[in-house]
Amino acid sequence: MRHLISIEDLDREMLTTILDTTQQLLPIAERRIKSAPTLRGLVVCNLFLEDSTRTRISFDIAAKRLSAEVINFSGKGSSVSKGESFKDTALTLAAMGVDAVVVRSGSSGAPVQLANYLDVPVLNAGDGWHQHPTQALLDVFTMRQHLGQLDGRHLAVVGDVLHSRVARSLIQTAKLSGMEVTLVAPPTLLPASVENWGVRVARDLDAVLPEVDAVELLRVQRERMHRAFFPTTREYAAEWGLDARRLELLKPDAIVLHPGPMNRGVEISADVADADRAVITEQVTNGIAVRMACLYLMLAGRTEGDHRE
Ligand code: NCD
Repeated sequence: MRHLISIEDLDREMLTTILDTTQQLLPIAERRIKSAPTLRGLVVCNLFLEDSTRTRISFDIAAKRLSAEVINFSGKGSSVSKGESFKDTALTLAAMGVDAVVVRSGSSGAPVQLANYLDVPVLNAGDGWHQHPTQALLDVFTMRQHLGQLDGRHLAVVGDVLHSRVARSLIQTAKLSGMEVTLVAPPTLLPASVENWGVRVARDLDAVLPEVDAVELLRVQRERMHRAFFPTTREYAAEWGLDARRLELLKPDAIVLHPGPMNRGVEISADVADADRAVITEQVTNGIAVRMACLYLMLAGRTEGDHRE
């Protein structure tokens, strides 16, 4: 694996390798000293040009648990806010000798561009509406933990599909795992291209819930909405939100996922967010191990015979 930019670049075997590696790395978090020397001497740069809490911290912890050095670089407070071009930022990082770059950007395509400028691995931590591969991998890993073999299982993805890079990556990853996918969303929050995605589209959430093994709720991305996509938050919650009544419609072993940050009371009610079958905090924990696996698979070979040794 050279870069991790889009789930489209993975085949089923690579996906299985990432998920199995995640499983092997998970116990490191249980140790008293939560680190392994695997990436000692390597430098990972976290280039975050768009707001993020959990993904940034998760990549930071993941690299540190493998003993890499981490440089955190955000748009605010750096030369990017002085108008430095993306290319110059990239070349500056390369000149400083970083071994991998994790990039989050509001612009779809920024990680691909970065990969063209750099000859070190680039990991996409979310670009515009395009992709968020590690989020999808941690979602599928969490589903695999709860549901076992995912072939033939059924996932519903509910909400703001239009603005969601999580949805785009997750649908591809779930399908690669053999899952069936149904999208439930207001028609205004579905992209026109959805017809070519190989998924079922439904409008009635109550009718879909009894059929599925997992539901991923998407955050209503208000910051990306510059006009009204639905009448009011109350009406959105009534039609597309998961509340305690709807939770009862799910199969007994079905689980509820959310990538965070949540809008409690909009796409998910507060009691559902705190319910036993909501695995949202497990997703966060698993996210660190998934990112460790990705860093490991892309970088581990580089420490051997390296000039730093
Ligand atoms: C997601 C993101 O930023 O794409 N969050 C995350 O990475 N945990 C989803 C979102 O912001 O809605």
